[in-house]
Amino acid sequence: MRKLVAANWKMNGLKAGGVTLARDLVQRAATGKLASELVICPPATLLIVVAEALKGSPIGLGGQDCHAEEKGAHTGDISAVMLKDAGCRYVILGHSERRASHHESDAEVRAKVAAARKAGLAVILCVGESETERQAGKTLDVVERQLVGSLPPDLAGLDASNLAVAYEPVWAIGSGRTPTPLEVTEIHARIRQALGPRLREVRILYGGSVKPQNARELMTAPEVNGALVGGASLLLDDFWAIARACG
Ligand code: PGA
Repeated sequence: MRKLVAANWKMNGLKAGGVTLARDLVQRAATGKLASELVICPPATLLIVVAEALKGSPIGLGGQDCHAEEKGAHTGDISAVMLKDAGCRYVILGHSERRASHHESDAEVRAKVAAARKAGLAVILCVGESETERQAGKTLDVVERQLVGSLPPDLAGLDASNLAVAYEPVWAIGSGRTPTPLEVTEIHARIRQALGPRLREVRILYGGSVKPQNARELMTAPEVNGALVGGASLLLDDFWAIARACG
């Protein structure tokens, strides 16, 4: 299975730096013989200029969120159709930062997944437990509940070409802490089981403090099919090292 390595720039980057980083990655990808698929998800203000920088390269573009509606009176929001129009191939949905600070429920995420699919975008769906849930031994239940609740019933219309799942423990994001490869394997196996045999080719990414120092160990664990990278994706050498570790 070809691994997917996605850069989540979050609310970081201005025009000059963002375009330079995208261009530098294009250059590395052109000479670096990478087996993995790379995707950059910049903030919305940079979508158009980064799309331009990525033109003709194998690196894909993604949005970080979308609204469930196509258009209308939703000040500050961006629709899936708009992301597609800006050149996106992917959209990240259900990221824990959106679930926490924008109070997004599974049902809302599910509506966004439907909107993204309708617009022809592939979805990177994020799931993951909080520190408290982990300590209470609820990780597998929480992850499965989010997964099932955030996808359409019967997983209709989804396949490996339009869905990837990112397991991102909330306590690991931006903290420098990660689960062990064994823990990640167990949780990914549960996600794989919940997706069922028809979706066995769907890539399951790990996200949360992926760094050059831990990427190889995490990325070569069974059932890990790539990475969703936050902080380290803002640094050319670090992101490239992570991509290389994926193969
Ligand atoms: P991090 O973020 O790599 O900075 O921990 C990952 C994410 O939130 O997608």
